[in-house]
Amino acid sequence: MSSYQILIVDDERPNLESLERILRSDGAAVEVFQDPQEALVRLRKGGIDILLTDLRMHPLNGLELLKAAKLADSSVEVILLTAFGTVELAVEAMKNGAYDFITKPLQRIQVLKSVHRALEKRRLVNENASLKEELKSHLGQPQRDLVGKSSALRAMMEIAGQAARSRANVLIEGESGTGKGVLAEYLHRAGDPAGHQGLFVKINCTAIPENLLEAELFGYEPGAFTGAVRRKKGRVELSQGGTLFLDEIGIAPLTLQAKLLRFLQDGEFERLGSNETLRVETRVISATNTDLKSAIRAGNFREDLFYRLNVVHLRVPALRERIEDIPLLAKKFLEESAKKNGRLVPLLHPDALEALQHYAWPGNIRELQNLMERAVVLNRTGVIEPSNLPSEIGGDQRQKSIVIPVGTPLRQVERLLMDETLRTTKGDKKLAAKLLGVHPRTIYRHLETTSDESYPEGKESPSLSDAVCENSSI
Ligand SMILES: Nc1ncnc2c1ncn2[C@@H]1O[C@H](COP(=O)(O)OP(=O)(O)OP(=O)(O)O)[C@@H](O)[C@H]1O
Ligand SMILES: [Mg+2]
Repeated sequence: MSSYQILIVDDERPNLESLERILRSDGAAVEVFQDPQEALVRLRKGGIDILLTDLRMHPLNGLELLKAAKLADSSVEVILLTAFGTVELAVEAMKNGAYDFITKPLQRIQVLKSVHRALEKRRLVNENASLKEELKSHLGQPQRDLVGKSSALRAMMEIAGQAARSRANVLIEGESGTGKGVLAEYLHRAGDPAGHQGLFVKINCTAIPENLLEAELFGYEPGAFTGAVRRKKGRVELSQGGTLFLDEIGIAPLTLQAKLLRFLQDGEFERLGSNETLRVETRVISATNTDLKSAIRAGNFREDLFYRLNVVHLRVPALRERIEDIPLLAKKFLEESAKKNGRLVPLLHPDALEALQHYAWPGNIRELQNLMERAVVLNRTGVIEPSNLPSEIGGDQRQKSIVIPVGTPLRQVERLLMDETLRTTKGDKKLAAKLLGVHPRTIYRHLETTSDESYPEGKESPSLSDAVCENSSI
């Protein structure tokens, strides 16, 4: 544990001295005070990581000192020393932001455990605060909703920025959940920041039944088909002067593709059931997560339409190609989910963050977003640890392994495996049996025989003397 600044306040000299000894031996820079008011003067000068204070003191009691200390420096973590009869005061203090309390008589191990945990929390809070700052400064940029600063994203955004200023049609390609929809909206907004020109009108080709797509897109006159009672403008018409976003264009039926092509070539179309030709000026952005080139080869997509749509091509990188953005995105989603669910924003433990950065994210940003929401809703401790993530993400990917010399008798190999598995499961016999695919009885029998044979004092079990244990695969 690196050095830290701790301030101890207790009006009883012997307590103060024993605490000072314990913490100095842990490498802390310690300052002790018998008078709480003097301690407060020192606290106000700053630089203190942890305040360790007794509860029953004069003229300030521990609760009053806590409140004043938090006012002086809200990042100081406060641990209380409680004795018989001060428990209620301790509970009150916890409600007022104390981190922990330790009961007297003091035990070295208990004191250090609590102090170390408080330091870890302080470190996490600081880390999250700087992440928040980073996020804030990023949010100040024009591309507000497109969180990220990875080189893959920046390269794409450079082209997107140019495209936004033009009226050229844009085809966005990218795996599911990468943010194609977000990018389309960004292009619209960036092209018309004041919002004076036209609307952003979206049509999702998978969300609308095939037979209604054409009517939705181009509109209709009364009597054009059964159920068409009133005239209805289509989305093409509504997007006049703005943006028409054709989402999932890859699955548009061929008949619709022909009509779209005509519109893209001449800007002309007719409402269903009408002979009147209408003209609309709009910019078309389309998105697909299927490969249009192979759809063309298979005869499912018109090549001429492809070239009309694909004036500017943008490929949104998969999340695994921009892992530098995961901290920012995760933080953003934790904050959003906490707000939505009326929870406090949990901290993301650095190990959990690392696990997130090592996962492949087949569902991309949407998967991360859902996972963060789940973590917020299920979280009880205020910190998201790797164990709170699904096992394929948070589980220790590095399988512990053992190296067994060729020629080792099989019986011994079995024992080695059982010993090492039990060590990994921290003695959980049922889990060890499950991992090894044997009945728990086998494990119990193994333990009985090893204790019968009991290795001579001082000699290690054969697991470590005959085999090499590693943390990586063989
Ligand atoms: N850069 C980003 N910053 C913040 N949130 C993002 C970003 N990109 C995507 N998201 C969020 O991720 C989710 C998925 O984004 P979006 O729906 O745009 O993806 P998509 O590529 O269109 O997916 P699909 O192919 O399934 O339609 C949305 O909830 C969106 O708000
Ligand atoms: Mg989409």
